[in-house]
Amino acid sequence: MRKLLQATAAIALMATAAGADTIKVGVVGPFSGSAALQGRNFQAGIEAWFALNGKTVGDHEIEIIYRDLPAADPAQSAALTQELVVGEGVQYLAGYYYTPDAMAAAPILEEANVPMVVFNAATSAIVNASPYVVRTSFTTWQTSTPMAAVARERGINKIITVVSDYGPGTDSETAFIKAFTDQGGEIVQSIRMPMSTTDFSPIMQRIKDSGAEAVFAFLPAGPQTLGFMQSYVENGLKESGVALLAPGDLTQESDLGALGPNAEGMLTTFHYAVSHDSPENKAFVEAATGWLGNANELSFPAVGAFDGMHVIAHMIEATGGEQDAAAAVESVKGLEWVSPRGPVSINPENRHITQNIYLREVAKEGESWINKEIQTFENQGDPGWVAP
Ligand code: PHB
Repeated sequence: MRKLLQATAAIALMATAAGADTIKVGVVGPFSGSAALQGRNFQAGIEAWFALNGKTVGDHEIEIIYRDLPAADPAQSAALTQELVVGEGVQYLAGYYYTPDAMAAAPILEEANVPMVVFNAATSAIVNASPYVVRTSFTTWQTSTPMAAVARERGINKIITVVSDYGPGTDSETAFIKAFTDQGGEIVQSIRMPMSTTDFSPIMQRIKDSGAEAVFAFLPAGPQTLGFMQSYVENGLKESGVALLAPGDLTQESDLGALGPNAEGMLTTFHYAVSHDSPENKAFVEAATGWLGNANELSFPAVGAFDGMHVIAHMIEATGGEQDAAAAVESVKGLEWVSPRGPVSINPENRHITQNIYLREVAKEGESWINKEIQTFENQGDPGWVAP
């Protein structure tokens, strides 16, 4: 009996120790609805990181608490974030697919003493919304700017821009127009579409009528990007030789199966291709697709999450597991590592990731369609960041 009691007490002690050493990370993202595959890629990135690095940092075990935000919904994002902080006692916040959701949660961080690691939302200004925001994805300024040089090098003079009318879209438009006109190009027209647009035929007609040689477009990756690409082909724009240039959100690998030959040859600029050739990416892709169970579902939000976990693990280590958001954020300023996307670092001034941006071409490799990297713009910061 005494032995049994001792054993029970020992187990209880261990359980308390384990409990005390659990560090909760709240992850907000679209896990249901039409953008669920984007959220599933957050999960794939997190699970790949656990598979390659384990779930513990020192004595601390990481526990992920997911909250579903199916569509951009700032009020709901703030409510879920508040509940994660107050109800669940999370020590870190992460995820945030859409810009308005990250923006709405940022004002909660300082009082809560919680850092936020943005896995996706890509408007430059997000890092200015709180000193506790760190971002491991990209900005649309960062991914759109190099496309201007690509267009000029290919002799394109007249372009029409088409973007979703919210933060990352207007950033993308401003970035592209600035770089393209700086290099002597002409913008014939700029169209902003409501985020809710699903019928793109009228837009395609305006592109045809504009006299532009090419269209530069940004939409947030998800069902609308696939719809836009299909409409571009169905309305005969590809056939008539109006080139479509875009950041890589429009050709995410999980859509390439559906697009197939319709996307062949399309040029995009982006921070990550599933086909990136490096040992770090090979290990990542193997772990992430192992969790997804389907190699065709892997897309860029997974690498934002994977590197986001790297940053969070570093913060946990640097603070010895203590809840100290200021020290945690300070510890990752200037952090450098080799990501599955290539060499990266956290800019100490704005806490955003510095990285290579690649020019890619949609091509067939064996039985699958890939974004084949053909040129590298090395070590790109965020050209859209303005000191507050
Ligand atoms: C954003 O809302 O910031 C966003 C979402 C999806 C993307 C890019 C940016 O592909």
